[in-house]
Formats: sequence, C-alpha cells, structure tokens
Amino acid sequence: MIKGLVLDLDGVITDTAEYHYLAWKSLAEKIGIDIDRAFNEQLKGISRMESLELILERGGKAQSYSAEEKETLAAKKNDEYKVFIESITPADLCPGMEKLLFEAKETGLALSVSSASKNAPTILEQLQVKEQFTGIVDPNSLKKGKPDPEIFYKGAELLGLSPEECIGIEDAEAGIDAINDAGMFSVGVGSKESMKAADYFVESTKELDLKIMIEKAENR
Ligand code: BG6
Ligand code: MG
Repeated sequence: MIKGLVLDLDGVITDTAEYHYLAWKSLAEKIGIDIDRAFNEQLKGISRMESLELILERGGKAQSYSAEEKETLAAKKNDEYKVFIESITPADLCPGMEKLLFEAKETGLALSVSSASKNAPTILEQLQVKEQFTGIVDPNSLKKGKPDPEIFYKGAELLGLSPEECIGIEDAEAGIDAINDAGMFSVGVGSKESMKAADYFVESTKELDLKIMIEKAENR
C-alpha cells in the first residue's frame, strides 16, 4: 500500500533549473567556458561540486584548479543562484503542485523531499510549503548523490516507511535511476525519451494525478 510521496525539488516542486543554468553560465563565462541549455540537462539532479567538475571537463580545465579554488568557484555560483531564489514566491510552485500536495495530505500520505540541493529548505520556505513536508533529506549526510539510491532510501526513512510504500517523483534521469534502484515506484516528469526508465511518466507536473499514480504503483 502506498503511504508516502518522496519528491525531488528542482523541476518538480518548483522550476529552479533555469536559475541554476543562468548562475552556472555566468560562472563558466568568467573562466572562459561556454555552456548551453542542452549541456545543462546533464547537470540536473547532480550536486554542486559534480556540476562544476562537468563544466570544467567540458572546457578542458579539469586539472586547472586546486580543490580550494574549486570551492571558491562553486561558492561564487551559489552566491549568484541565491540572488535568483530570493525572488521565489508561492506563485512559483510548478503547475498542479499546490493541488497535488493538498490532495496528498487529504489522502493521508506523508511527504518528504529528496533533493541534491543544499538550498532546498530555503526554497521550500519561500514557496510557503515547508511545513507540509515531514522531512527533507540533508544532502550533506549522503555518501553518494543521484543516481545512487541512498537519497531515496533516506526520503522513505524520514517518513518511517519502506521504499515500496512510497512513490518517488523526479525530472532528472539520474533521479529516476536512483528511485528505481531504491525499489520505489518511479514517476517521471519530462519527455518520453528522457523519462524512459520511469515506471510511469507525464510531460508536465500539471498532469500528476494522485489517484492514477497510486493505482499504478499499487498494481505494479
Ligand atoms: C539539484 C539540481 O536539485 O540540486 C542541480 O537539479 C543542482 O542542478 C543541485 O546542482 C545542487 O543544488 P545546490 O542548491 O546545492 O547548489
Ligand atoms: Mg530535479
């Protein structure tokens, strides 16, 4: 029986992917690396430092910076990102999300967030939905990020549930792999191609129907 929902944040609860992209693009430009939106797809669901490594590799600069310099670069990106997220309001919830969270509560489902973002608590506060979640996985506590299933094991654990009792919702390929490997029913938001590993997928968050998801997860 399904008793909980474990949600990704960026691209599922709110669409911060564009802000991440703009902040990374600005940082990359400063060090002479060009990135575009297609490249940015690879950064979805991936931690801040891993994202930086991918950007440096793309620019052929993987060996150009010390660990300390990389920390400084990542901090610069985060400073720019934080300016963007300051303006987030409840109006920035993804389409259909307010309804989904409300229905989940009405149905008695527990909610948690499994996001790689260290900014998740701040963003959930800005969206005024933080208190609806029983728990938020702390990315600092993880040994491995997505696609490793650890973050989804923890998301279920925060609810006192087994992964089989939860539905995981993600927009990143690495996230879907993580949900699947945790043994949780995976719901993908995105294109058929990018979400091909998901147990069930929709193209937009506004198509996330709680009844359909529960039915599919309980009959899998
Ligand atoms: C994920 C995003 O949710 O969080 C990634 O999809 C981002 O793009 C990652 O890099 C880490 O976020 P933050 O806020 O800790 O830099
Ligand atoms: Mg995401």
